[in-house]
Amino acid sequence: MSATEHGSVAERVVAWQSTHGRNHLPWQQTRDPYRVWLSEIMLQQTQVATVLDYYARFLARFPDVRALAQAGQDEVMGLWSGLGYYTRARNLHRCAQQVVAEHGGVFPDTAAVLATLPGIGRSTAGAIAAFCFSERVPILDANVRRVLTRLLGFDKDLASAGNERLLWEEAQALLPRKNLHAAMPRYTQGLMDLGASVCTPKMPRCGQCPLASGCAASRAGDAERYPVKTRRLVRRSESWQLLVLRNPGGRVWLQRRPAAGIWAGMHCVPVFADGASLMGCVASLGDASRISCNELQPFLHVLTHRDLHLHPVLVAGDIAERPTEDGGWFGADEWHSIGLPAPIRKLLDSTQAQLW
Ligand code: ADE
Repeated sequence: MSATEHGSVAERVVAWQSTHGRNHLPWQQTRDPYRVWLSEIMLQQTQVATVLDYYARFLARFPDVRALAQAGQDEVMGLWSGLGYYTRARNLHRCAQQVVAEHGGVFPDTAAVLATLPGIGRSTAGAIAAFCFSERVPILDANVRRVLTRLLGFDKDLASAGNERLLWEEAQALLPRKNLHAAMPRYTQGLMDLGASVCTPKMPRCGQCPLASGCAASRAGDAERYPVKTRRLVRRSESWQLLVLRNPGGRVWLQRRPAAGIWAGMHCVPVFADGASLMGCVASLGDASRISCNELQPFLHVLTHRDLHLHPVLVAGDIAERPTEDGGWFGADEWHSIGLPAPIRKLLDSTQAQLW
């Protein structure tokens, strides 16, 4: 790419965004960092179409950072339930509390300080600072990483932190230099939009791209090679036995998951590593003649790093008042307001449907 072409990348992205980009998303109608931050966290690993409803509900319940900071964790998790990647929700809550406790309820206005808050990485900090404060800082989420590595023909392995740092420097050098107040939000959104709609992982639409003439990968016809990253995700498979205990009132016994690991901090039915331990627990529950025990249909739940093979067993009847040391009985009216992982919520809904 010539120096002139390099110098005009930002202008072309800005011009393209204003006519071809997304400009009517709810979080684009504001420079309120609370709203922009919330949208950016929800949009990590989640499609815009899915986020829209959650975003509206969340804001209706928590209109500002103080309201969110004051909420109980269960209510926050309940409103997040179904969006997945629950660490985001816990960090969101902690971040709101930190903004109130350490910043007087006002979000910091630089990317550098934003990045010190829980759940806000460098790219999210850049996005918030560019959208709300027009700070001249880059972003580098997965979409933008793809756009820029292709544009520059950047084929160094991003598994190396040093190469990742080099790409950040390249991203910095491409930023707009003029009219920053308007250009920074538009440029930032433009790179995201290009990555989402034109510079797609497979079969990019180079014919529609404002950067195609200077794009190394488009010229070489090898866009799908980028970005280069060698470290492969190691997927593991696990089998979980789920004990669904239902008392005569139709309530289900739920425990809080440990603070770390899968579904950390959320409510869940008791989980056992194998069938024998689950049956050991069932045997301790009370008079076997007054308890029914049925294996339900096993199902698969796919997480980023893990395939969870879930094997539910439904135990109903005259069960001990406190079947395990910690936990509580929750009725169907409560399942939707406490934080339950989506597959557990669906499982409980289906057992409910079977009963009545
Ligand atoms: N993904 C992450 N941030 C986004 C935004 N501001 N608009 C659309 N998609 C996004």
